[in-house]
Amino acid sequence: MSLSIEDIINFVSKVLHKILTSEISIDKAFQCVKSSWKDRESFKIYYDITFQVVKNYFRLRYLSKNIFGTETCKDIVRTWLILHGEEYFHRRDIVKSYVRRLLRRRGLRNRDLSKLANDLVESLRKIDPIEYLSVKYSYPRPVIEILLNVIQFEDLERMLSKMNRPTMWLRVNTLKVDVDKCIKMLEKDNILVEQDRDVPFLLKVVEARRPVHHADTIRKMYAIPQDKASVLTVLELSPEKNDIVYDVCAAPGMKSSLIMQLTENRCKLTLVDISRDRTANMLRVLKRAGVDLSNVNILIADSRNLKIRIRGECKVLIDAPCSSSGAAGKDPAVRIALRELRRLPWYVDIQKSIIMNIIEQAKEIEIVYSTCSLLPQEGEEIIEHVSGKRDIELKRPRTRLAEGYLKYSVGKTVGRTLPHIHDCEGFFISRFVV
Ligand SMILES: C[S@@+](CC[C@H](N)C(=O)[O-])C[C@H]1O[C@@H](n2cnc3c(N)ncnc32)[C@H](O)[C@@H]1O
Repeated sequence: MSLSIEDIINFVSKVLHKILTSEISIDKAFQCVKSSWKDRESFKIYYDITFQVVKNYFRLRYLSKNIFGTETCKDIVRTWLILHGEEYFHRRDIVKSYVRRLLRRRGLRNRDLSKLANDLVESLRKIDPIEYLSVKYSYPRPVIEILLNVIQFEDLERMLSKMNRPTMWLRVNTLKVDVDKCIKMLEKDNILVEQDRDVPFLLKVVEARRPVHHADTIRKMYAIPQDKASVLTVLELSPEKNDIVYDVCAAPGMKSSLIMQLTENRCKLTLVDISRDRTANMLRVLKRAGVDLSNVNILIADSRNLKIRIRGECKVLIDAPCSSSGAAGKDPAVRIALRELRRLPWYVDIQKSIIMNIIEQAKEIEIVYSTCSLLPQEGEEIIEHVSGKRDIELKRPRTRLAEGYLKYSVGKTVGRTLPHIHDCEGFFISRFVV
């Protein structure tokens, strides 16, 4: 079936517009536009192109402005099409003639546009290094500005480049299958993996012929897509059999199911989340993952004012809601949501309220506080805020994390995963006793 280029431009620009105006995930925006779309056969290619356009939004917007003089959603998609369209369409001749007509209509010469785009981006390096990183790696400028205060330019460039080529990790669900058997099952599904050197039940996807979530081994939850940074967060908590564990921002339950896996279903786990829908989904996930629900207590509640008498030997995981700036590889719409950092103060407020509420009720308990964020406001600054209010004993990381940002006094005693070093998402992970 041949795709109409105009249809693609209309569809993708509608999704982009939805993301820009509603700040929702790429999947939600895509489903929303899809539900009112007439052509129902070619959504796979629509999704692939949408993903590329959203992921490269900041670069395409800059190029669109410099090539067409405008940055409308449609021109942003057209810019993607003239630079990459030929890679996605079988009929290259159709793309070529579309681009020729487009340029003629706009009074532009039909020259080597890939070279022009490359020159435009590279010329920024000397004039405006912040804009250069933002445009080249398609990350919002305010985030780059913050990160350049805590990371060297060259390191940041490597990190952003790596975040554009994220690694996919699978966690073997040892509640259901052992690692060797799982690797063989994945091979049958045409998914080639490499076992991680640090975490034996973690597998790095090296090659997959189709999206991994379609594979039987994944659908039956023998292996679970979970980033290495998320796994390292739970390893910092180090749950053991018979432990009493609270996970106070629990849904959709990826870390909670790993807690149960590590303790062979033998710890007492209380899961709290504010969202009814996410909690319902978590319950389904836990059941399917083989978690023994008789050892799990689930509460739909606000952890900012939740009253639980946390006493004695217990562990608390606070995997707080955040900007997700370290996990933008998974959902590229996150980058767009970060363009003005409007929601950052809101997240910081929730993070402080949850952590302070838990600490106020706690005595001699161990807490792991984490966010999938690269921003110090959601990491080092939260821990500094807390330690200014209460005596907490920060513990050095158990796993091989990088140090936190050294600009901060707590930098050496908190941990971070850095995408270009740890080959995973960028998480802030801290552990302390209160
Ligand atoms: C980063 S996600 C947690 C991911 C989860 N730990 C996992 O590994 O699957 C943050 C969660 O916190 C929940 N949340 C946000 N505000 C909350 C609050 N005030 N109290 C409890 N949960 C909250 C959100 O609904 C969301 O599910």
